[in-house]
Amino acid sequence: MNRIDSILKEALDKVKTAELDTIENIRIEYLGKKGKITEILKTLSSLSIEEKKQIGSEINAAKDALNDAVESKKKEITNKLLEEKMKNEKIDVSSAFSFTFPKGHYHIISRTIEEMSDIFVSLGFDVSQGREIETDWYNFEALNIPKDHPARDTQDTFYLENSSNLLRTHTSPAQIHIMEESKPPIKVIVPGRVYRNEATDATHSAIFHQIEGLVVGEKVTFAELKGTLSLFIHRLFGQELDLRFRPSHFQFTEPSAEVDIKCVLCGGKGCRVCKGSGWLEMLGCGMVHPNVFRAVKYDPEKYTGYAFGLGVERFAMFKYGIDDMRVLYENDLRVLRQF
Ligand code: PHE
Repeated sequence: MNRIDSILKEALDKVKTAELDTIENIRIEYLGKKGKITEILKTLSSLSIEEKKQIGSEINAAKDALNDAVESKKKEITNKLLEEKMKNEKIDVSSAFSFTFPKGHYHIISRTIEEMSDIFVSLGFDVSQGREIETDWYNFEALNIPKDHPARDTQDTFYLENSSNLLRTHTSPAQIHIMEESKPPIKVIVPGRVYRNEATDATHSAIFHQIEGLVVGEKVTFAELKGTLSLFIHRLFGQELDLRFRPSHFQFTEPSAEVDIKCVLCGGKGCRVCKGSGWLEMLGCGMVHPNVFRAVKYDPEKYTGYAFGLGVERFAMFKYGIDDMRVLYENDLRVLRQF
């Protein structure tokens, strides 16, 4: 029994300092077929049954103790290795999120259309869409602009090759489509792109944007037109801004007017932008001409209506203090980032 104890002690000592690749050898050295503990069993034949039993259970206990020690040492070693491995492979995920993606935003034209449309929507207008390619009928004829009429010269037109189509010079043809496709009451705005064959400078572009407005019903009055457009301009530029309705002429409205606002840059004193007049032209408008109603087979005795056309670029420039229209199209990021 002493021998068992001392062999076990010797084995356990070895286990304490063992490495992963040598520890199984220790188990074999003591518990294998020819192991030091196994060998003791073979010397028991001379003993009595009682003694065999006792020593047998001692040996079994020693086996168990050694097996347990080997297993827990193994676990200890593998845990330590794993811990070291994890320490070396540690990744600092906090740095993975330090890169911020550049954020985009709406172009100033889109934003202005959105802001302008929101006001009309709050007043009960629907928002519709027109088409950029039109025929002579929709862009001119149905709007009471007959062929050879001098009013055509004011809108230099891009004609499409080999067809009778053209690029619309204003959003007003949308009035005709809407009236053809629906019945009064009508209360709608149509934002969109328009084209004119003219040179580009600080206040002109061959491609620009308008918002068309059309209201048709049985008792629509000029007073409503005035009230709606005044409210619109005051919402956009502030309640205190001075504005005026000035008589004008459009073929498709009668009477016609233009709306001017007190120059937002000089406050009315006169500057380069308002060309010394103190006023800025903002939009054209008027009561729908009876000939336009006739063109869409509406009874001009029964219906009245008003229409208006707003230039989006002008509103954007005056609202955001931009004095050259070209910056709206050049897409210089240094400019776009400011808005
Ligand atoms: N279509 C006109 C223009 O482009 C503006 C306008 C629209 C005037 C509706 C009156 C009524 O100049």
